[in-house]
Amino acid sequence: MTQITIAVVSKLLLVTDLDNTLVGDDDALNRLNAWFKEHRQTYDSKLVYATGRSLKSYQRLLTHTSLLEPDGLIASVGTEIYYPGNQLDQAWSNPSSGWDRARIAAIAQQFSQLIPQPETEQRPFKLSFALTPENSLILSELQAQLIAEGMEAEIIYSNDHDLDIVRCKANKGSALTYICSRLGFTAEQTIVCGDSGNDISLFTANTRGIIVGNARKELRQWHQAHLEGDRYLAQAQYAAGIMEGLTYFGIMHQ
Ligand code: GLC
Ligand code: MG
Repeated sequence: MTQITIAVVSKLLLVTDLDNTLVGDDDALNRLNAWFKEHRQTYDSKLVYATGRSLKSYQRLLTHTSLLEPDGLIASVGTEIYYPGNQLDQAWSNPSSGWDRARIAAIAQQFSQLIPQPETEQRPFKLSFALTPENSLILSELQAQLIAEGMEAEIIYSNDHDLDIVRCKANKGSALTYICSRLGFTAEQTIVCGDSGNDISLFTANTRGIIVGNARKELRQWHQAHLEGDRYLAQAQYAAGIMEGLTYFGIMHQ
């Protein structure tokens, strides 16, 4: 008797960072887009982008990159969530007591090493700066000051360059958990993909994960120190790395 094995592929929530994860290799991006378009139709799968960019900066990216319309957009490092039609999730952006933006800005101003990013990237629950690796030693002092003043703020350093101060519990990972339940997906049905420091929280939400081959050292180091998760470190870069991971998890058959 011949035995036939059928891989069970079902409904999937694909959550991916944009810069240097999904975006970076146009040819691979187009191939992944074509595959997901079909998968979405067949299995009612959904797509969420999780980016450090503000909505404005995301819209700028759309002018020169062909991206599928997502079912949700986690923007500004998780501090904002949008649905189709640029509808902001108001409940997610509710103010919280430990977040005093003006106070946090005043604390940050004491550190001359922190160079403010453009206005579009300064958001109600996110302050962003450029910081060189040589100056990154100030981060522990900055953290200590925020704690001393009772600020519920998280510091996220990515790409050896970007320093975000975001509202506690509003990083990409907590936004992911929130949007999973809003869209009706379990952690088991979800796959996250990323390349840098602001993606680390995505990998802590008990979902399967794909780290693309071009990942930055802060994510690689974190991965090595936390090997317990169901995570795949791809060889291929950008969208090709995502496809390699989807193949590893038995979802895609290249
Ligand atoms: C994006 C954002 C920037 C942020 C960086 C890292 O580039 O535009 O504000 O600092 O991601 O999270
Ligand atoms: Mg990235």
